[in-house]
Formats: sequence, C-alpha cells, structure tokens
Amino acid sequence: MKELRIGMIGYGFMGKTHSNAYLQAARFFDSEHKPVLKALCARNQEKAQPFADNWGYESVESDWRELLKRDDIDAVDVCTPNNLHKEIAIEAAKAGKMILCEKPLAMDAAEGEEMCQAVEAAGVANMVWYNYRRVPAVSLAKQILESGKLGRIFHYRANFLQDWTISADVPQGGAATWRLDVEAAGSGVTGDLLAHCIDTAIWLNGSINNVSAMTETFVKERVHAETGEKQAVGIDDACAFLCRFDNGSMGLFESTRYARGHKALYTLEINGEHASMRWDLHDLHRLEYFDHSDEGIVRGWRSVHVSDGDQPYMGNWWVPGLQIGYEHSFTHQVADFLKSLDTGEPAAPSFRDALETQKVCDAVLKSAADSRWENV
Ligand SMILES: NC(=O)c1ccc[n+]([C@@H]2O[C@H](COP(=O)([O-])OP(=O)(O)OC[C@H]3O[C@@H](n4cnc5c(N)ncnc54)[C@H](O)[C@@H]3O)[C@@H](O)[C@H]2O)c1
Repeated sequence: MKELRIGMIGYGFMGKTHSNAYLQAARFFDSEHKPVLKALCARNQEKAQPFADNWGYESVESDWRELLKRDDIDAVDVCTPNNLHKEIAIEAAKAGKMILCEKPLAMDAAEGEEMCQAVEAAGVANMVWYNYRRVPAVSLAKQILESGKLGRIFHYRANFLQDWTISADVPQGGAATWRLDVEAAGSGVTGDLLAHCIDTAIWLNGSINNVSAMTETFVKERVHAETGEKQAVGIDDACAFLCRFDNGSMGLFESTRYARGHKALYTLEINGEHASMRWDLHDLHRLEYFDHSDEGIVRGWRSVHVSDGDQPYMGNWWVPGLQIGYEHSFTHQVADFLKSLDTGEPAAPSFRDALETQKVCDAVLKSAADSRWENV
C-alpha cells in the first residue's frame, strides 16, 4: 500500500467534503494508494486546530508556501476562494506536488491556461473537483448516452437555482461572503454554479461552440464585510445563456441566486431522437428516463432508482435499493484519482479539461457584456 500524503489548503465547506472523501475512499474502493491526512493549511493555526483534530490531520501549517516546501506532502488540495487557485497551483506544480484543485479552475481562462502549462511542464498529476460527474445517476446518464440509446441529440438544458442573496443586506467580501466579491470570486453565478452545469454538459454532450448570454446584477451596491464600506457589486447575480454544441444540439442554461424557494436546485435534461433523460440534484439518486421504443400502452417517464450493483459506483456501497448522497460524489472523485495513480492514466477532469469550461464561462460573460453571440 502506497501512501498519498495530502496537504489541504482551506478548511471551509469543501475542506469538509474532501476530508471525508479522503477517509472514505480507501475504505470502500480498492486501490494501491491510501490517502493520509498529513497537513491542514489555514492562515490562523489556532482556529484550524479543532478541524484538524476532528478529521485527523497530523499537523497544521499557517502559510501555504511552507506547506509546499515539505517533503512529506505528495498532493496539495486547493480548497480556497477562487482568486488563490492560480498562485497556489502554479507554485505547487513547481514544487513537484500533485494538485487537486477546486472549481472553477481559475478566475478566467487566461489564468487557467497558465495553470495548465505549469502542471504540464512539471508533469504532475492534476484534477479539478467537478464532483457532479461522480453522482451515480449522472455517471449512468453518461453510460446510457455512450451506448447510443438516445440517438441524435437535439437539446441539452440545465439550471442551477438558489435564493440566498436576495436581501440587499447580505454583505460582499470577507470569509463568509467572498462569493459576492468579484475580486475573490472572479464572477458570480457563472463561475460558481454554471461552471458545474457546463462541465457536466461538456462531459455528457461534447464541446460547446458559441454562446449568447444575458446577465443581471439585481443588487447594485453592497457593504463590504471587512471594510464596512458600500461598494458597487461586480458579480453576475443571474445568468442565462443559449449555446450550440459541436454535435449540432442546442443548449439552454440558467442560473441565479434570486429564485425564491430554491436552495441548490441543479437540474439537467437531454432530449434525443429515441429517448430523453433528466436529473435533479434534490433527488440525486434517481435518473428519469423516457424511451420512445417502449410499447405504447406502458410508454412513459420511468424513474430509475440508481442503487443497484451494476450501476456506476454502487457495487462498492450497500445492498441494492439503498441509496447514497451528495458527499459520495467527492468520495468517488478521490477513488477515481487513486485509480488513476494505480493505472498511470490521467485523472479527469484534468486542469486542461476544466479550462474548456473556463473558456465557456469567459465567452458567456463576454457575450452578456457585448450583447451578442460569442465563439468559445
Ligand atoms: N465542487 C463543489 O461542488 C464546490 C462547492 C462549494 C465550493 N467549491 C469551491 O471550493 C472553493 C472553496 O469554497 P468553500 O465553499 O469551501 O469556501 P469556504 O469559504 O467555506 O472556505 C474557504 C477556505 O479557504 C481559506 N482561505 C482563504 N484564504 C486563505 C489563504 N490565504 N491561505 C489558506 N487558507 C485560506 C478560508 O479560511 C476557508 O477555510 C472555491 O473555489 C469554490 O468555488 C466547490
């Protein structure tokens, strides 16, 4: 058994999902590699210690540059806000570390390109946490698509809806609301939420050629959480776009943080010549499937409860009929990363794969700014 000694930077929401995944992956999936929680890195060592103790990190570093100098770290996990991804990843590559980076890859495609070049020059293993690919029902959708059951694809549709920034009193910036600060996030819902939808879409339905988008910032000024000063809001609160895929199908995407009643409603639907599929994060263990070749009297949407051993990832979990949840998508991502180390095959999505999503995000924002179609 070879150790994969992890140094994780940032210990917020994703820090928790990843720590859990590192611990679970080797217990449920066979691999020659086993993650070891070697070091947690956070600016305030004292505040980070309880997290480190709870998850079993062996040590705590307060400066990520010091973490990168350590010989006992094989892989660096970037769980910080988006504006730190580039610098950490490039320095980690130079230090010869493998890198698992949170999404979106970067603030924009230019930064992403630099990151790709850095990992490729260093020849280090790299992966971006587009975890929704690893929800078994979504992986099953990919398997069904690849079998050709849907025939020619006409439409791809995705939404990611939330409602947590409707109040004008929500501040921007700082530890809790960096997502609303364009300096830390790069963009609003486009990089935060649509990036997930775009990654899944490219994975399932192929590359996107061109886009036509509109964005809106409903609350124009917010108080900065750290300075207390009112500042212009630079992020997109909502974004909708149309696109064309390489395979000739049409895409329709929408994301907002202003859809009252929706907390994290990620839905996707794909319509083909012979069949259609749809998936909903709120019911993530189900894949809805409609097959036009079914006998007419029983033809209709079926709801496939993805929990059987012959469905993606499920053979490693409980017994058929028992479902798993959100956190398992991260466990599967770690399991696949470990497998890539076993086999020498690159892990997916790589930085280069994630750059494609970043380019679509850039084109979406440019199209919205210029009010015209934009090539990716
Ligand atoms: N894959 C997903 O589904 C998913 C979900 C949520 C967030 N994300 C991504 O994960 C990243 C982190 O998001 P989050 O929700 O965990 O944020 P968070 O605010 O919960 O956590 C961010 C962490 O980064 C730390 N940090 C900030 N600056 C640092 C520095 N200079 N050195 C060390 N640590 C520093 C903070 O202290 C905090 O622990 C973002 O890029 C975000 O887009 C991905």
